[in-house]
Amino acid sequence: MNLGFLASGRGSNLQAVIDACRRGELAATPRVVISNNSASGALERARQAGIPAYHLSSHTHGEGLDEAILEALRRHEAQLVVLAGYMKKLGPRTLAAYRNRIVNIHPALLPKFGGQGMYGMNVHQAVITAGERETGVTIHLVDEEYDHGATLAQARVPVLPGDTPETLARRVLEREHTFLVETLGKIVRGEIPLD
Ligand code: GAR
Repeated sequence: MNLGFLASGRGSNLQAVIDACRRGELAATPRVVISNNSASGALERARQAGIPAYHLSSHTHGEGLDEAILEALRRHEAQLVVLAGYMKKLGPRTLAAYRNRIVNIHPALLPKFGGQGMYGMNVHQAVITAGERETGVTIHLVDEEYDHGATLAQARVPVLPGDTPETLARRVLEREHTFLVETLGKIVRGEIPLD
């Protein structure tokens, strides 16, 4: 299955998928990586791996951003789109063209601790402040709202006494890497239906 990625930052989830595909653990091919951030680790990792990488943002493309993203995904024949730390909303054309073919990974057990502003350390800080004893990872279909859409899979991660946002983030991120690969594998094999 051909994968397209959108990512804004570090790109460690992207890297986990690239590595799994390379090792033959995931029957998929990363075909294109798009970032709104020209300095993102994700674009750098893609280039290192020889995957076409594009900086497409409202600054570079203005009103035409949605169309430019869709065009890049189509040109590289992406069949499934993975939001791997993409901190922007997708436009209506891309959402319509890839309905039920776009998945997002979120570092908490949605519907808790999701939505606008709930990303990065904010999520883990909120989990600790709320006194949760468990958090995790959610992979879900993407719709018009942040961190919304049908949940496809969740993994649980313990919150330990004395955790700081940083220690918790590290534990969750480690689980994200394996869980994203596992879940994409299930999607590719049809074990998790998208429709
Ligand atoms: C990951 O923790 C991902 O779950 C989160 O951004 C991080 C990206 O890390 N996504 C969200 O918070 C979406 N709301 P990465 O760039 O190293 O893969």
